[in-house]
Amino acid sequence: MRKKVTVVGAGNVGANCALRVAEKELADVVLVDVVEGVPQGKGLDLLQSGPVQGYDVLITGANDYEPTANSDVVVITAGFPRKPGMSRDDLLMANYEVVKTATEQAVKYSPNCILVVVTNPLDAMCQTAYLVSKFSKNRVVGMAGVLDTARFRTFIARELNVSVENVTAVVLGGHGDTMVPLVRLSNVSGIPLTELLDKATLDALVTRTQNGGAEIVKHLKTGSAYYAPSAATIEMVESILKDKKKVLPCCAYLEGEYGIHGLFVGVPVKLGAMGIEQIYQIKLSGEEQALLQKSADAVKELVAVITSKR
Ligand code: NAI
Ligand code: 2OP
Repeated sequence: MRKKVTVVGAGNVGANCALRVAEKELADVVLVDVVEGVPQGKGLDLLQSGPVQGYDVLITGANDYEPTANSDVVVITAGFPRKPGMSRDDLLMANYEVVKTATEQAVKYSPNCILVVVTNPLDAMCQTAYLVSKFSKNRVVGMAGVLDTARFRTFIARELNVSVENVTAVVLGGHGDTMVPLVRLSNVSGIPLTELLDKATLDALVTRTQNGGAEIVKHLKTGSAYYAPSAATIEMVESILKDKKKVLPCCAYLEGEYGIHGLFVGVPVKLGAMGIEQIYQIKLSGEEQALLQKSADAVKELVAVITSKR
């Protein structure tokens, strides 16, 4: 029997997640959205790409959660995207309500699923899904680090004119401009970045990565990125569905790792059938640890707003 993935939010990120699941033939997909007709129409359109693209999965759309029953993975992309001049944090309370409802409904029908959260502000929305679902911490994971490292890897590869496949990068922390791209642990086929690029160039690449989302918003004007975000999300979903145990930077609930307690923050994890199967603790320098703590503090402020309203 095929696996089943629900994607909540049939907007730019959600629809592209559905498309990527289908193209990789990972699972049947149910798209859910509040707007009547949109998930149904996009679902049918995606289904009709099957004969051309050569995939045999079912893609359906709905405005309720009954058809999502017994999903293996539920991806939450529902919410409002960032507009120019708007920070991810501005989205906090609007998207809190959306993610709360989506989580309640999704876990009612799929009590054994793994939740993959995408909606921004990402780290605080993971905390919301975790609190609302009452799932164990391994079953709630957020997508940000795969996207942020993909951006860092792209910029490094372009600077050096090498294949993106040879570039490995590490980014820790919250999904905001306080994120911590770790130059020390990033490399090109094992060659440390510091041996390939001077400090001024590396600093510029780090800053561009930290502002990677805003750079796209500035171009698009009416929304935020979705091709790379959906690709990043589906790399995580694939690792879970196929139990690949990929080691990926994801937003995970920390209970003392990196000195952070009771908070979702981006760190390297092993992703498999059980969700987050291991959290990797890297020994950080004093400066790196301070930057990570600053990023975690920014997440904490948002979570405090949410928990005070619950
Ligand atoms: P979009 O506006 O294209 O799609 C959002 C969809 O959610 C819309 O179709 C809307 O009708 C739907 N929606 C709203 N309330 C809903 C509810 N209660 N239940 C079900 N559906 C609902 O936005 P886009 O570009 O797809 O982005 C979605 C979210 O993902 C945003 O919060 C955005 O900031 C976030 N995002 C996060 C990234 C990350 O790295 N974590 C990367 C890219 C986007
Ligand atoms: C991004 O980084 C908007 O968080 C989204 O593109």
